Formats: sequence, C-alpha cells, structure tokens
Amino acid sequence: MENDQVIVIKIGGVALGSNDTTVEDIVQLQQQGRQLVVVHGGGKLITEWLKIHGIATRFAGGQRVTDSDSLEVAVAVMAGMVNKEIVAAINQIGGRAIGISGVDGSLAQCRLEDEKLGYVGKVITVNTELLHTLLQAGYVSVIAPVGIYAFDRPDGAPCVLNVNGDIFASEIAAAIGAERLIFLTDVPGICDRSGNLLSKLSVGEAEELVASGVASGGMIPKIQGCIRVVNTASAACIIDGRQPHALRQQIEGRGGGTIIYNDQPES
Ligand SMILES: Nc1ncnc2c1ncn2[C@@H]1O[C@H](COP(=O)(O)OP(=O)(O)OP(=O)(O)O)[C@@H](O)[C@H]1O
Ligand SMILES: [Mg+2]
Repeated sequence: MENDQVIVIKIGGVALGSNDTTVEDIVQLQQQGRQLVVVHGGGKLITEWLKIHGIATRFAGGQRVTDSDSLEVAVAVMAGMVNKEIVAAINQIGGRAIGISGVDGSLAQCRLEDEKLGYVGKVITVNTELLHTLLQAGYVSVIAPVGIYAFDRPDGAPCVLNVNGDIFASEIAAAIGAERLIFLTDVPGICDRSGNLLSKLSVGEAEELVASGVASGGMIPKIQGCIRVVNTASAACIIDGRQPHALRQQIEGRGGGTIIYNDQPES
C-alpha cells in the first residue's frame, strides 16, 4: 500500500476507557495492511494532574494556556503516561506500535503560536521521513502532541512546546498527504444549536458554526483541523469514539459523525 493511503487518527481524552474498542480497531486495520498514524490528546488527564500538583488550568478559545509549570505536567503526562498506555494496549493485543512525540526525530518543529497561550507551539515543519520509515517498517506511530521549540526561541525558554492535539494531527496529516483524518471524540459529531448531529458540513458552514459560537471549546481545533486538510485528504471527519467500533465503521464507509467537505474551488 502506498503512503498516500495513510490514515491519521486523533484519539480524544475519553477514548481508551475500559470498554473502548479503538485499540482493537487500530490493530485490526493494521493487520489488514492499512497505514495508520495515531495522535492522542490527554486533556482530561492533564487537568487531573495539574490539580494534583495545585496548578490552575486556564483555557482560551478551546486551547490550554501553558505556563512553565503546566508545560512540565503536559509533557510528562502526554509523552509519558498517555502515550505509553496506548502503545502498550496496541502491542498487547498483537499490534505493532511505536510511541513517539513530536520531539523525536525532530518530527514537529515549532514556533510559539501566540504569546497569550504561553508555551504552545505552532507546527512549522514536519519531518515526514520518520513517519514513512516507521510505516515502512510496519509500525503504527502513536504520537504525543508536543514539539520542538525550533524557531525564534529566546534564551532560557523551554526546548519543548505543548501543541494542541487536534491541530497537531491535522499538520501531520497535511504534511504526510494523508488520505483521511479522523477525530474520535466524546460527542456524536458536530451538533447544531439544538444538539442535533450535523452529518455533512461544507467548510463555509463549519466556519459559520464557529463564528456563531454553536461550535465552541474543544470542537474549534477539530473544525480547524478538518479545514486544514480538506483540499488534500479525501475525508476529514469527527466521529463518536464512545461507540463500539466507530473507527472501523468509519473507514469501511459505514460511519456516523460529521464529515467536513470542500465546497470552494482551490485558490
Ligand atoms: N457544536 C458542537 N457539537 C458538538 N460538540 C461540541 C460543539 N461545540 C463544542 N463542543 C464540545 O467539544 C467537545 C469535544 O472536544 P474536547 O476537547 O472536549 O475532547 P477531545 O478533543 O476529544 O479530547 P482531548 O481534548 O482530551 O484530546 C465536546 O465534548 C463538546 O463539549
Ligand atoms: Mg480536545
């Protein structure tokens, strides 16, 4: 299978509960010869760990504000606990997974996204060679969304930056030319003002939902992520990771959730 068939999957903080079937699906898809790259979040666990350490969490526009204390916790939790648990779960049931972060192999080279967000990275360059190498060797890479502070780093600033997991996944998908980008989350998809699922949205409609505040918080970076790849991927969607085998069904064309499609000519 060629690398243009790569599927990038973002696993949200809620997936991977004890009844979650995502890991089973990943292993099965891998055994079918699919080329998968997994990016995970860690939002809820980071919040818990920050609480344990008495560090307050602030969000702005769905994105975590990261000071140096919360950066330490975010990196430790995501590149440590969360990443290793996913890798272990995949390998335990016969999959072949390798856990990395955006720091490894200089995968995600970043600059600061916005001073207001603190130590949050904007991915500028992706070293896709590492991903191709791992795919060719038969591994699914499981990636923690942190990157290297590679551009315009002031002396004394940390070398590692926290990156929003959704945006990170979309940058990886764009760089590798993924065929699909799938966000697994804890809601049925993007919902309208009354809470009804919107199964298909054009880029313009999705932007309008953000502008009107109907899509807010953690949904915003998913929409931005879908829009990022809409010209290059054949599908960008947000599905309910709580539903058994949601991932496999989506890939087999029987999925629910929301698909964002491009209705505008490429400019
Ligand atoms: N219009 C909308 N339709 C559906 N969900 C929405 C909408 N607007 C905001 N949301 C929120 O977006 C949330 C999903 O994003 P969230 O960041 O919480 O989860 P995640 O990204 O899957 O996990 P993590 O951040 O831990 O990786 C939903 O739980 C819901 O509260
Ligand atoms: Mg999120």
